[in-house]
Amino acid sequence: TVGNSTNIQWHKCSVEKSDRQELLKQKGCVIWITGLSGSGKSTLACALSRGLHARGKLTYILDGDNVRHGLNSDLSFKAEDRAENIRRIGEVAKLFADAGVICIASLISPYRKDRDACRALLPKGDFVEVFMDVPLQVCEARDPKGLYKLARAGKIKGFTGIDDPYEPPLNSEIVLHQREEKCDSPTHLAEVVISYLEAKGYL
Ligand code: PPS
Repeated sequence: TVGNSTNIQWHKCSVEKSDRQELLKQKGCVIWITGLSGSGKSTLACALSRGLHARGKLTYILDGDNVRHGLNSDLSFKAEDRAENIRRIGEVAKLFADAGVICIASLISPYRKDRDACRALLPKGDFVEVFMDVPLQVCEARDPKGLYKLARAGKIKGFTGIDDPYEPPLNSEIVLHQREEKCDSPTHLAEVVISYLEAKGYL
């Protein structure tokens, strides 16, 4: 029995992950970008995808906001639904990594336990957590979608950082601080991640 499924078996195919990786000339992995709303997750994901694409690497972005338009459209922002959002994106990211793709997951993923559960789905080293360590005040001042304003006005309940928790990672592979300086442009931040992947033999 697996979860609620009984009488199921795992089918193995002779074309394996290693074959796909050889074909693609890259190693599948998951780059998991976590942080508050407005911390620059999606911007980094996009810059990272561009940078890797330019190096001939196949990437795919799973953005929380976007996945909530389809696969996760049944989920709200209450705690158990956020947990399910994270779990599903973790499982899909695992499939992409198994396909040989560099999968970039970009979602608030506010709970440490749920992020760690996603990490545990992958072989050691294949889950790279990137923490957008941007203070709430900075995210709120940016307020790109006007959501912090609505949350402060009580028009959105349970907004992360305002009246809903965010548990910062304790052991991220990469921590990115964003200041207003030029060296912290999305392209520069993406290079930090790309250098890490290079050093670890993923590219
Ligand atoms: S989570 O917590 O990981 O399930 O969130 P995620 O799937 O990444 O979705 C976050 C985006 O949804 C918008 N939004 C909210 N965020 C936080 N709290 C509440 N209550 C909320 N309601 C809507 C918001 O635009 C988030 O987008 P980002 O890209 O993070 O700014």
